[in-house]
Amino acid sequence: MNTLTTANPSLEKEKKQTIHGVSLSTSPQSSRLLSIKFSADIVQRFLQQTEQWPIQALEYKSLLRFRIAKILDDLCANQLQPFLLETLLSRAQGALLIHAEGIDRVEQSDEMVKLATAIAHLIGRSNFDSMSGQYYARFVVKNVDNSDSYLRQPHRALELHNDGTYVDEVTDYVMMMKIDEQNMQGGDSILLHLDDWEQLDTYFRHPLARQTMRWSAPPSKNTRKDVFHPVFDVDDRGRPVMRYIDQFVQPKDFIEGNWLSELSDALENSQRKLYLPVPVGSILLINNQFWLHGRDRFTPHPELRRELMRQRGYINPLPSRFV
Ligand SMILES: [Fe+2]
Repeated sequence: MNTLTTANPSLEKEKKQTIHGVSLSTSPQSSRLLSIKFSADIVQRFLQQTEQWPIQALEYKSLLRFRIAKILDDLCANQLQPFLLETLLSRAQGALLIHAEGIDRVEQSDEMVKLATAIAHLIGRSNFDSMSGQYYARFVVKNVDNSDSYLRQPHRALELHNDGTYVDEVTDYVMMMKIDEQNMQGGDSILLHLDDWEQLDTYFRHPLARQTMRWSAPPSKNTRKDVFHPVFDVDDRGRPVMRYIDQFVQPKDFIEGNWLSELSDALENSQRKLYLPVPVGSILLINNQFWLHGRDRFTPHPELRRELMRQRGYINPLPSRFV
């Protein structure tokens, strides 16, 4: 597994820095999770300067995704890109909740996707998403669902997991954006940092932790090929990283099946989970190697609607800062 983490502890101190046009704070839920907010001025100037490229242009030409990323970083006096990378790669943190002043209505969904795209392409590149056939996916959760996974099913919790378990592409980060939300009660995002998990040592040290297992997704994911990897690996400094989801692992026998089942329970029963409301227009961006994510259940409502956008991909640190 190609895992990237910050090797320089002095970078931790730089979190105190300011970013032009962006306010920074630690979230009330955890010191590991930073909250940032783009000012209305930065948002407006970004949208003006990228007006000539609709979302379709970004879909057709990948290079434009990097171009709008540079526009955003330039507006933030080039302080945004190093900050995002350092925060995401810091093992002690690795998670951001991102808000943009004035971006909070479903009618602005194109603007939302554009801003999210710029942020994703400051830290790396978003992978092709087989479910949508684009570099991002938008999907709707409604009161009734007949899909083949728990992704869209509102009345069930989506258990803690990593993304990218059934694809070959490296999935260093996961970005989730709330585009719309109506008649929702519950449904918070749930996060668990691997180092906060009470049972990490027990499962990481078990012989099955490094046993290669088979992973395959249901038809809606449009990936026909199985992939093979263990649940746990280590990063470049020997620390545990995880690549796990209960829905798509295919245990080969009784022993694997029961070990995985117990592991799932141990994750769900953690007392260190963070419950996080994500407002419309906001983005949750996490390091997928050492953060697990899930979603709490909703209260049923006939007019319930939630729309989300996701991007997942690899992190590409700036060479000059990480030699
Ligand atoms: Fe996920």
